[in-house]
Amino acid sequence: MKPYLLLMLLLLATAPAASQDDERLTRSRDAAMQLGQKLSATLLATLGTDGPVAAIEVCNVEASPIAARISARAGASVGRTALRLRNPDNAPDADARTVLTTFESELAAGATPPLEHFETRPDGSARYMSAIVTQGLCLTCHGSGIAAEVADTIADHYPADQATGFAAGDLRGAFIIEWPASDVPPR
Ligand code: HEC
Repeated sequence: MKPYLLLMLLLLATAPAASQDDERLTRSRDAAMQLGQKLSATLLATLGTDGPVAAIEVCNVEASPIAARISARAGASVGRTALRLRNPDNAPDADARTVLTTFESELAAGATPPLEHFETRPDGSARYMSAIVTQGLCLTCHGSGIAAEVADTIADHYPADQATGFAAGDLRGAFIIEWPASDVPPR
């Protein structure tokens, strides 16, 4: 076989995998943004009108169905995780924990967000993560010296809560998007 034919065959064989990864990376960023925007909008709407205690109730009830709706649309599992958790359902596995620890040290060393991680596995599945940084607004429910009624409401819903004591600029957690081993579904 002529060398250029071999090269073309090689390109043809590798191109679909590469473009599928680009596609999943783009869609992951999109899904993470949608989840972030929808959660903030929901949070802000309730915080502004009814205050933090009501907003905790809303987060408690709404966070998981919002993530489920965005997952169904994206064709991937879209959620959040963290090293110090409020909802134990968001626990990271060992690999996600490693990525979170890396994000944490990068932020501490002065890296500028977005901090991202994308990996594909031999079975064709893929994982995307992007850092969620603590902002001033988050401290009402994730900071230090939380108001007593807010702390009580958190304790009622999340008796094992570890997600307080953060300062603005700290890593709060990450969006995590899991792609199944199958091909990217059509848009
Ligand atoms: C009104 C209180 C409140 C505010 C303000 C708030 N959160 Fe939360 N946060 C919660 C509650 C309640 C949960 C648990 C939701 C659930 O059950 O899934 C949570 C969960 C999370 C999680 C998922 C990981 C975990 O620990 O379970 C992340 C990440 C997070 N919050 C980030 C933020 C960020 C970033 C901000 C600021 C932009 C913020 N939160 C503001 C109440 C709040």
